[in-house]
Amino acid sequence: MARKKIAVIGAGNVGATTALLLQEKALGDIVLYDVAEGIPQGKALDLMEKTPIDGTDVKVTGTNSYDDIHGADIVIVTAGMARKPGMSREDLLAKNKEIMTNVATNLKRVAPDAFTIVVSNPLDIMVYLCNKILQPKSNKIMGMAGVLDTIRFRTFVAMELNVSVESVHGLVLGGHGDDMVPLIRYCFVGGIPLAQLLSKERIDAIVERTRKGGGEIVALLKTGSAFYAPAAAVVKMAESILLDKKMILPCAAYLKGEYGEDGIFVGVPAILGANGVEKVVELELSDEEKAMFKKSASRVREYIKEV
Ligand code: NAI
Ligand code: 2OP
Repeated sequence: MARKKIAVIGAGNVGATTALLLQEKALGDIVLYDVAEGIPQGKALDLMEKTPIDGTDVKVTGTNSYDDIHGADIVIVTAGMARKPGMSREDLLAKNKEIMTNVATNLKRVAPDAFTIVVSNPLDIMVYLCNKILQPKSNKIMGMAGVLDTIRFRTFVAMELNVSVESVHGLVLGGHGDDMVPLIRYCFVGGIPLAQLLSKERIDAIVERTRKGGGEIVALLKTGSAFYAPAAAVVKMAESILLDKKMILPCAAYLKGEYGEDGIFVGVPAILGANGVEKVVELELSDEEKAMFKKSASRVREYIKEV
């Protein structure tokens, strides 16, 4: 059976780390694309040279030509500027709008039927713009943010309780911004509701740290934003699709009335399998959770006007 073909657009921190993790999981042959000459070729060759240690035969190719992306089963878009200290994700909008327009226009020519996962920020707006240009079936396009926000939340809870991260389950919905919606009622530690293990003050502090999780790393790195956990998050989504695992993962999916929203992409739990976004899972939300979700979605709508 032929190996799957995975295209990664943007060979920067997130793109290159994504290629590395895809390669280590041997999920398919990888084509790494960037506008910068030599960078994708150099990083791809470097990755190829480690395959004898991995014991894998997947190919990694670097390119500056979209023609090499023809036939991709899945495309992961990481092209775009990353935040610097003091910038919000929305500050990236003007520049990344230009980049996404260029990327999506090219993808429409070479890979219109591939599953497309957008990572570039501001996430909910970039996936909307990509969809507008690409016009794929709505199950074929999604954005990555909820997995990252959720794993950050799980990490902070595990650190606070000094328990294994594997015992912590949580769910962060809404837009990938400071008003994302961590659902505490749906967070369990070894089957025990989080609220029985931690005080409201400590939970509030963890929620706040999760909301500002991207900014915390930008402030430390100073030259860019997080990339290890983001790359692991998008690879988890790709894995669920490529291996038809049908994991329920929070992702920016196109909503057609679910959660009271229509015509936008915003973070909701979804089943990801061989048909991409196979189902948006609708959870019962309390009035307070509904209000937080609505606020987050309204903010996404506000920025959509700019694209
Ligand atoms: P980076 O600066 O390391 O890499 C960006 C790459 O995009 C560069 O190699 C650049 O040459 C390339 N690029 C620029 N214009 C391009 C074009 N027209 N076509 C193809 N490639 C192009 O940035 P990093 O850290 O990899 O982040 C990439 C994007 O992902 C940023 O917008 C960042 O904010 C976003 N991000 C989103 C996350 C999420 O949760 N959704 C998490 C982490 C990053
Ligand atoms: C993050 O949350 C940059 O959006 C990215 O780290």
